[in-house]
Amino acid sequence: MKILVCGGSGFIGSTFIRNYFLNNPKSSVTNLDNLSIGSNQENLNDLPTDIHYQFIKDDIRNEIVIVDLIKNYDVVINFAAESHVDRSISNPKPFIETNIFGTYCLLEGIRKHDKLFIHISTDEVYGDAETKQSFNEKSQINPSNPYSATKASADHLVASYYRTYGIKCITTRCSNNFGPNQFPEKLIPKTIIRTIKNLKVPIYGDGEQIRSWIYVNDHVDAIQSLILNGKMGEVYNITSYEEISNKTIVEKILNIMNKPYDMIEYVPDRPGHDKRYSIDSSKIENKINWKPKYDFNHALKETVKWYLKNKQWWEPLIDEKVLHPQPWTLDWSK
Ligand SMILES: NC(=O)c1ccc[n+]([C@@H]2O[C@H](COP(=O)([O-])OP(=O)(O)OC[C@H]3O[C@@H](n4cnc5c(N)ncnc54)[C@H](O)[C@@H]3O)[C@@H](O)[C@H]2O)c1
Repeated sequence: MKILVCGGSGFIGSTFIRNYFLNNPKSSVTNLDNLSIGSNQENLNDLPTDIHYQFIKDDIRNEIVIVDLIKNYDVVINFAAESHVDRSISNPKPFIETNIFGTYCLLEGIRKHDKLFIHISTDEVYGDAETKQSFNEKSQINPSNPYSATKASADHLVASYYRTYGIKCITTRCSNNFGPNQFPEKLIPKTIIRTIKNLKVPIYGDGEQIRSWIYVNDHVDAIQSLILNGKMGEVYNITSYEEISNKTIVEKILNIMNKPYDMIEYVPDRPGHDKRYSIDSSKIENKINWKPKYDFNHALKETVKWYLKNKQWWEPLIDEKVLHPQPWTLDWSK
């Protein structure tokens, strides 16, 4: 099988490529990435040398190139996205360009050459969940910030191409990922790195916002199952049901690192901040027979260890902006 992975130099895309080759050493994978925010070429430095792997530096918004390129592959998986909510609040434009227009370019290639499209979306498209409520794939989409609105728009585009043109496609909506190689501006790596540097660890608002967490290897494992067994035109939620408040996550990290809670600094909340995300992934568990394998607390400890050991990976990526306590207050257009 020949796979085109877009955004394969980022956190989840690179984990997908590494794990995919472990299970399918004879496969051929091309990674197309414009090497922007979230990317790091070092993420794939450890790939074996005897595999069919190719890297192309390009942009999913480059419509003519993208539409033509897709003819060479069986499957296109799109991880390429502007992915940080805080940046989308300060500057929504690149999110609209990559997450919506970029998806359109890929869809045009998919319909022209009749290939399979795996669209990587997020649980954030459902918006806030009430206490005890969990969204399933039929729940209404109700995004709250420019990031999730652009992801929701792309979900609608994919669904419309399925209905109108009958393209082959599958949409995934996964909960918050964590693990090695995640860009330092996201909650877990930022907490670990600021703690290593003896800087105060910011928590937005009261820290009671609840997110559902999954170890990144479980997410990419679910995607591999869906390439083989997913039903065309369907949406699949993916989670390991670890619903934890931001405050508890930070406290768990401080405990692992033997640091006191007075390192926490409460800062004004992010505008439009969703209180709780919660999804039900029984569809993929029952129909595809996928289940998460990793224990949250163990995986979190391993993740902390990875950042402690791999300073040379994250040190060049950080500056005051990336580690800023309130990134949405910064001007990300510059
Ligand atoms: N991280 C999470 O918790 C999470 C959860 C659910 C879904 N997702 C989705 O998974 C996908 C990957 O997320 P991630 O955390 O790995 O993001 P990331 O920011 O780590 O990686 C994104 C990658 O896309 C590339 N990219 C960005 N714009 C591009 C463009 N126009 N053309 C080509 N390449 C481009 C970047 O260079 C980077 O390598 C995103 O679609 C995101 O919405 C993420």
